[in-house]
Amino acid sequence: MLETFSKKLMQPQNGLLDRKIFNDSEIYRMEQEQIFARCWLFLGHESMIANPYDFITGYMGEEPVLITRDGKGKLHTFLNMCTHRGNMICRAEKGNNQSFMCTYHGWTFSIDGKLVGVPGFKEVYFEELDKAKWGLVEVAQMDSYKGLMFATFDSRAPSLIDYLGDQKYELDLSVDRREGGAEVIGGVQRWVMKANWKFAVDNFGGDDGHHMITHGSVRPVVIDGKRWFNAYAEQKDPNNRMNMGGGWITEVDSSGKPLNEMGYMLGKYEQEHQKELRERMGGNPALNTMRGTFVGSIFPNMSFSSLRFNFRIWLPKGPDKTEVWHYCIVDKKAPPEIKSMIRLHLTETFGPSGNLEQDDMNNWQNSTFTAKGIVAQRQPMTILAGLGHDKEVPVTGTKLRAIYIRWAEMMNAASWDNVSINKSR
Ligand code: FES
Ligand code: FE
Repeated sequence: MLETFSKKLMQPQNGLLDRKIFNDSEIYRMEQEQIFARCWLFLGHESMIANPYDFITGYMGEEPVLITRDGKGKLHTFLNMCTHRGNMICRAEKGNNQSFMCTYHGWTFSIDGKLVGVPGFKEVYFEELDKAKWGLVEVAQMDSYKGLMFATFDSRAPSLIDYLGDQKYELDLSVDRREGGAEVIGGVQRWVMKANWKFAVDNFGGDDGHHMITHGSVRPVVIDGKRWFNAYAEQKDPNNRMNMGGGWITEVDSSGKPLNEMGYMLGKYEQEHQKELRERMGGNPALNTMRGTFVGSIFPNMSFSSLRFNFRIWLPKGPDKTEVWHYCIVDKKAPPEIKSMIRLHLTETFGPSGNLEQDDMNNWQNSTFTAKGIVAQRQPMTILAGLGHDKEVPVTGTKLRAIYIRWAEMMNAASWDNVSINKSR
């Protein structure tokens, strides 16, 4: 169906990608239609709109949306667009409100999307305007998985649980660790990078090969706090081999002495709740391979890391521009000082000030820049690692190929019947 990328260059199953897919306006436009207007997209966590009449604003692909909880507690997602002349009806990031008045001509919509007020309804519209027809445009489907809210514009999309598939087990490692679940703290960090959204998604989703090189600069100034955690764990329970969480990074001075006790304290917290964690996660198949920590992406543009307690959306803003929205998510039952430490730890490592984040962005921006060249586009990009050995050793290339096989599948699929998703899990 789609002829905009080269069939010769674009063979993800053979480890080849057409460089054009990372910096081309026509392909970007098709992505909005084939991917972002059809797939389930992440909106945030329910804790961000915990009370009746709470709302947040966000984006699904490039479309601005308004996410609300109505007076009865029901969740809604609407296009953040007045049905009169298209002004955005809400400009705030978050709040609590029973209705939204458009600042252009004053049409007013209730929290559940109904058009409830039209200036001049009697004098100008002669009471003939059918208000029931002109409520806010609501998404086709909205659902949550353990507090994580998703929506799709496509009524024919499979259910959220089918769409998530086995990734639900990996999400559990972040949002179902303790009784009471998880909550987002500290608001949303946002920043813009001059990179194609897919580089970020594939990096979190499968580019294991970059760690030692890209983040090599961080290693001389920090130690892996996992040592602290393991030291604590071994001291308390020499037989404990299940590492749930951990991996804290702690700054050290020139002699290697840690500058703060953050890594130790967070390791202690993890250890104290090992029993509860083990019981809750006991049947989780993701534990077998991930030892309780996970970094991944949910197609198309949400990524998460249970290792660093964060979720993010990579919002497409053009073929070479992405806005990142980054959330800190913690166990709801964690003590305030631990929540605060997790937030500080996350700010130190990820987000615009994060020492690891900055390494990553620089590379994605350069790869996006070179992908624009006419001569460069004659050369395929390679994701060849482990090709032909995927079952023996699922390394970085295996995961990257899986991501781009799904991307090409969605770009070519006329309907969900042509997309390989197992139903009714
Ligand atoms: Fe909203 Fe006119 S555009 S009231
Ligand atoms: Fe990285």
